[in-house]
Amino acid sequence: MATGTNPRDIAVPDGEFPFTWHDFRQIAELVHSEAGIVLTETKVNLVYSRLAKRLRAIGLRNFRDYCALVQGVDGIDERQAMISAMTTNVTRFFRENHHFDYLRTEVLPDLLDAARKGGKIRIWSAGSSSGEEAYSIALTILGMDPNAAERDIRILASDIDPEMLRRGSNGVYPVAQMGDIPLELRRKWFKPVPGSVSELEVGPEMHELVRFRELNLLREWPMKGRFEIIFCRNVMIYFDDETQSTVWDRFAGLLRPGGTLCIGHSERIILGSHPYDLVGQTIYRRHGAR
Ligand SMILES: C[S@@+](CC[C@H](N)C(=O)[O-])C[C@H]1O[C@@H](n2cnc3c(N)ncnc32)[C@H](O)[C@@H]1O
Repeated sequence: MATGTNPRDIAVPDGEFPFTWHDFRQIAELVHSEAGIVLTETKVNLVYSRLAKRLRAIGLRNFRDYCALVQGVDGIDERQAMISAMTTNVTRFFRENHHFDYLRTEVLPDLLDAARKGGKIRIWSAGSSSGEEAYSIALTILGMDPNAAERDIRILASDIDPEMLRRGSNGVYPVAQMGDIPLELRRKWFKPVPGSVSELEVGPEMHELVRFRELNLLREWPMKGRFEIIFCRNVMIYFDDETQSTVWDRFAGLLRPGGTLCIGHSERIILGSHPYDLVGQTIYRRHGAR
């Protein structure tokens, strides 16, 4: 404990590094303003354990110095590392599978017909983590049209966390995590990884369809064109209501009329406050005719 610190100010007693409630509040404010993620006091142990690794990695001895670093002008890189450490990146192939069923039966047939005649399809996986969501969309498309990679179809996978984007671009995944991928899709659209029997890499068609880009949902979005489909699942749960509401409206600005927005199982959009209709379980259609 730092000299003169009141024991009641200590957030995590007996920790390797002194961590006060004041440190916690500074970190929580910074994570909220940088990434939109809300950290309530119930998350104190999680914050401590994730950031203790950072302190060890850069050789700091207490959180007071860490706070000074991430708040200072020289702390840009560590601020980014802190945000990455505080994001939850859990994901998997064909998670919340009903969204992919809905695409296959209700949305993609018409879009793919148009794409075969030269039309374009733009899809955004916002908060893509390591890419499994975007590749599940690509697999759904390839399952319907094996020549999809030759058409004007692009899936943008974006995330705030550069390490997740690196994994996604690499496209190498453990076979043990592929249990939810239908076997015929796995056989056809993945390729072996030389020297590894426990991993597979996405094939050239999926690499062609999916592009990864760093993007903070709180900041500017450089995309100009509109999307037919947006997936933003299990990202907004970490944001406060006001930030969620702003992002739902910003998605509407980038979705074509009649476009589809899929959100996570514990998220919802207040109908009437935003230009969407609910058309399925956590599936919304942007107002306006397609
Ligand atoms: C739990 S994962 C969800 C992955 C995938 N969408 C799914 O449902 O399986 C949440 C992702 O949101 C990202 N994220 C959190 N805050 C973000 C922000 N402000 N801008 C962009 N991505 C953010 C995290 O880095 C993380 O990869």
